[in-house]
Amino acid sequence: MAEHAQPFVLAGVMGWPVAHSRSPLIHGQWIAQHGLRGAYVPLAVQPAQLEQALRALPVLGFAGCNLTIPHKVQALSILDQIDPIARRIGAVNTVVVQADGSLRGTNTDAFGYIESLREAQPAWVAAQGPAVVLGAGGASRAVLCALIDAGVPLISLCNRDAGKAQALAQEFGKVVQALPWDERHAALQDAQLLVNTTSLGMHGQDALDIRLDALPPKAVVSDIVYVPRITPLLAAAQARGNPIAEGMGMLLHQARPAFAAWFGHLPAISETLLQTVRSTL
Ligand code: ATR
Repeated sequence: MAEHAQPFVLAGVMGWPVAHSRSPLIHGQWIAQHGLRGAYVPLAVQPAQLEQALRALPVLGFAGCNLTIPHKVQALSILDQIDPIARRIGAVNTVVVQADGSLRGTNTDAFGYIESLREAQPAWVAAQGPAVVLGAGGASRAVLCALIDAGVPLISLCNRDAGKAQALAQEFGKVVQALPWDERHAALQDAQLLVNTTSLGMHGQDALDIRLDALPPKAVVSDIVYVPRITPLLAAAQARGNPIAEGMGMLLHQARPAFAAWFGHLPAISETLLQTVRSTL
């Protein structure tokens, strides 16, 4: 009978489509590893039904859920409370059902990014020098928040659509400086960190076109694309001896605080989990 004293905790991921999500695999492995009673399930929810689906969470006894494409922005206008970090990123990736049945939205992507960078390159020190960030979409906003909060003194932001980079620079303050896309090669001079947040380099897409000649040899090169594991950018960085941080780290680390919010344990990323997720790429 003792095992029934432990409540059965339900969580999941809402997306449309959702079948590709690796989150059920990640959270499922942590549930088993911690000996918990619970389940993490894929929830295929159409955009027009997002509000109904979210409101059903407390009714069904869910502790909460993750949100993925295309729900992350729409959720901002549905949930009862939004954490400041989700407001700054402009998207919700984690919903937590509160004791009174209300819904709190947060975002763990900035945490996921900085933790994965620090895990891959513990010698990287935020305050030590400027960063160059490529891309100005949703992922870029999470990376910018992470780098600003970590204490990076200056971030050069290059995006193909210059207006989007300018808008972000305006929003995030003078630590972020928008540069024209054509200046991405020269901007690498003095950078301590280069981050690709564009979709370029992803399997089936063109490689990111950037010359690394000006990049200092000790600068860290980080890609949030994780299929393939070693993108053409990361391969080029490795070839000239720069330290790298792979994109899969962010996927794994963003899941940790969400799991903690629902299941009460901050999980670690074991070698077994890493191998399991890698085997799906
Ligand atoms: P995400 O949420 O993953 O950031 P997104 O919001 O669609 O996705 O952003 C995609 C990013 O990749 C954008 O910065 C986009 O540049 P634009 O704003 O100019 O569209 C960038 N991107 C996609 N394809 C690109 C290409 N062929 N060349 C340069 N940048 C590209």
